[in-house]
Amino acid sequence: MSESLATVSYIGATILFILSLGGLSHPETSRRGNLYGMIGMTLAVLATIFGPRVTMAGIPWIVGAMVVGGSVGIYAARKVKMTEMPELVALMHSLVGLAAALVGFANYIDPVAAANLTSAEKAIHEMEIYIGILIGAVTFSGSIIAFGKLSGKIGGKPLLLPARHWMNLLGLLVVIFFGYKFLNAHSVADGMIPLIVMTVIALLFGIHMVMAIGGADMPVVVSMLNSYSGWAAAATGFMLNNDLLIVTGALVGSSGAILSYIMCRAMNRNFISVIAGGFGTGGGTPAAAPGGDAQPAGEVVAVSAVETAELLREAKNVIIVPGYGMAVAQAQHIVYEITQYLREQGVNVRFGIHPVAGRMPGHMNVLLAEARVPYDIVMEMDELNEDFPDTDVAMVIGANDIVNPAAQDDPNSPIAGMPVLEVWKAKTSIVMKRSMASGYAGVDNPLFYKENNRMLFGDAKKMLDEVFVALKS
Ligand code: TAP
Repeated sequence: MSESLATVSYIGATILFILSLGGLSHPETSRRGNLYGMIGMTLAVLATIFGPRVTMAGIPWIVGAMVVGGSVGIYAARKVKMTEMPELVALMHSLVGLAAALVGFANYIDPVAAANLTSAEKAIHEMEIYIGILIGAVTFSGSIIAFGKLSGKIGGKPLLLPARHWMNLLGLLVVIFFGYKFLNAHSVADGMIPLIVMTVIALLFGIHMVMAIGGADMPVVVSMLNSYSGWAAAATGFMLNNDLLIVTGALVGSSGAILSYIMCRAMNRNFISVIAGGFGTGGGTPAAAPGGDAQPAGEVVAVSAVETAELLREAKNVIIVPGYGMAVAQAQHIVYEITQYLREQGVNVRFGIHPVAGRMPGHMNVLLAEARVPYDIVMEMDELNEDFPDTDVAMVIGANDIVNPAAQDDPNSPIAGMPVLEVWKAKTSIVMKRSMASGYAGVDNPLFYKENNRMLFGDAKKMLDEVFVALKS
């Protein structure tokens, strides 16, 4: 493939990636967005393999690596449960970071990469290597810790070391100092020591940064690591002189950063505070591990599936608030059937979606779309929060933190300030969950003890099956 054809293919792939991002911004167009992304990536890989930079001798290596990587990817994607997606994503970010760091080292020791460069070009090339390895190493270790926290292998409690901000500042100064040493090194062997010292500091910084973040702030960290992985890929593009990698990395980097910002706004968190760690706990009790053992603080009124069906039958306006438990129970299909049935009876049924419901951005939208719930009744939190006072029944299905009034009422709560769906303002709220256990943030939920709240205990799918039978009888 000639240089110009490869360039045209790269431009085509870039356009497809931009269209893909545009498509992913709405559930209705997201399938198309995914398709654009897949075609773009296929085009990019083919143009790279058959482009002018790869020799015939290199092709078996590339094909071998693709077979191994592709097999692992297919196995992981088939095996992973929907609820484990964030862990998989964090693990994948770590691979991007690792790749950027390894490419940086390989580029530095490769005599061909720096041959024929003027001294100014060489300095820029080495700066790219230094920054690329720095971002790659932070992304790698940070993502591994995020994986550990999300999968429960590491506790969700923030690790708040004394003088942690000073430690970070010191690390930054040391990295700058060794960067100076690296750029002034006279040989590769000479430059290797500052490079290795910086890599170790970057790895420690990545670990420290994510360890200091409380459980409730983890969604922001995952999308921030997504952004870092984009910048790591862009840095790799600079090192390898690959324009497509630079553009793609920048697209991922900037869209991840925008997503982090949107999520921070949704959770009423200051982005810098989240990243600096610990501030997000608002000085109150730090978040406990998922399913924490907070003691119940009042009396609750339990209802049966039959009583729930009766409340629904009498309602004119119903808002359903799904959460992580709906994903665990895989209850979205029966939720759809109940919705259909109630709508046929003239009940106005709508869904209230919190931006961080579930365990990944858009988690609930994906499940509801899979169950074919019409998009026009799936509303965002801001669109329908003020409608709760006119709602007869607010049905909370496996959600907890996102409907916790303590976020508004208790300034010492670890989730203080996070906007929540105000289900308690409905005439009756019904919370469907298996026990009194807390949600992801590990805090008790005063909603359960409100006078107008009812608890329907049990697995969401099993209970909704029973509610549906009772509704139809
Ligand atoms: P959570 O607060 O985690 O609450 C989920 C509830 O579902 C639990 O209290 C659990 O109670 C219940 N549950 C679990 N399995 C169930 C089943 N089979 N049937 C019925 N109920 C079941 O979820 P949420 O309200 O969706 O809030 C999301 C939380 O996750 C937030 O704190 C958010 O910050 C965090 N988070 C979000 C993301 C993203 S990006 N969305 C990523 C990471 C973390 P029982 O055990 O009593 O059943």
